[in-house]
Amino acid sequence: MGESVKPEVHSFKTLRDASLALAERIVETARVAIEEHGQYTMALSGGKTPELLYSLLASEFSERMAWNSIHLFWVDERFVPQDHPDSNFRMAYHAWISKVPIPRQNIHRIPTETETPEEAARSYEKNLKEFFDPPDNKSIPAFDAILLGVGTDGHTASLFPGSRVLGEKSRWVVSVEAPPSVFPKKRITLTLPLINNSREVFFFAFGDEKKNVLRAIFEEPEKAKKVYPAAMVKARERLLWYVEKRT
Ligand code: 6PG
Repeated sequence: MGESVKPEVHSFKTLRDASLALAERIVETARVAIEEHGQYTMALSGGKTPELLYSLLASEFSERMAWNSIHLFWVDERFVPQDHPDSNFRMAYHAWISKVPIPRQNIHRIPTETETPEEAARSYEKNLKEFFDPPDNKSIPAFDAILLGVGTDGHTASLFPGSRVLGEKSRWVVSVEAPPSVFPKKRITLTLPLINNSREVFFFAFGDEKKNVLRAIFEEPEKAKKVYPAAMVKARERLLWYVEKRT
């Protein structure tokens, strides 16, 4: 399944146009998922790129979202308190969640009040298992959608090039150390098996500094897969890229 999904690339002149298009897509896929199976589960990225998207989902798109049936998760988190300026939860909370009538129990943030990032990862994996309740406590669940960003080094979520967690087969969530140039260092991330089982994956990448890595991913995907975690991502049904138009 995941193997054969071809990426679809949508390019836009401005971040606002891309954010509007992606918001429209999210509203529509959420509507269909809720109609089909009663809920929409989406895992969010941090970084700066999705902030405008989040604020659009909190404003002009809000009335079209069935908030009671929407569950929000995170693809990764920095190991900082939830009100720290570097917290991915905090960004989404301020831009989006605090402004919409989503029930509290539908917000599934990665807990960072644990003693160590490893405990946070285990605790989040446990929370995911309780939520998705797989029959044998093992089979990998499918999020309806996962939103991912891309770093200039080709990382996505907190999966960095060369990291041993890229080979993870059984854990759903792990703790990682980012490379020396990336801050904050201590992080918690979903693993590739879980990400790759998502029905739909949205990549959202804007900015000139990302153009080389994006070119490598689109033009030489097989080569890129060996190096860039973003190129290793698959989806069960659709893999959509929202990127800047190059002239
Ligand atoms: C994080 C991320 C990370 C992010 C990319 C892109 O916690 O840092 O989730 O994978 O999406 O680094 O970040 P920007 O959108 O800021 O470029």
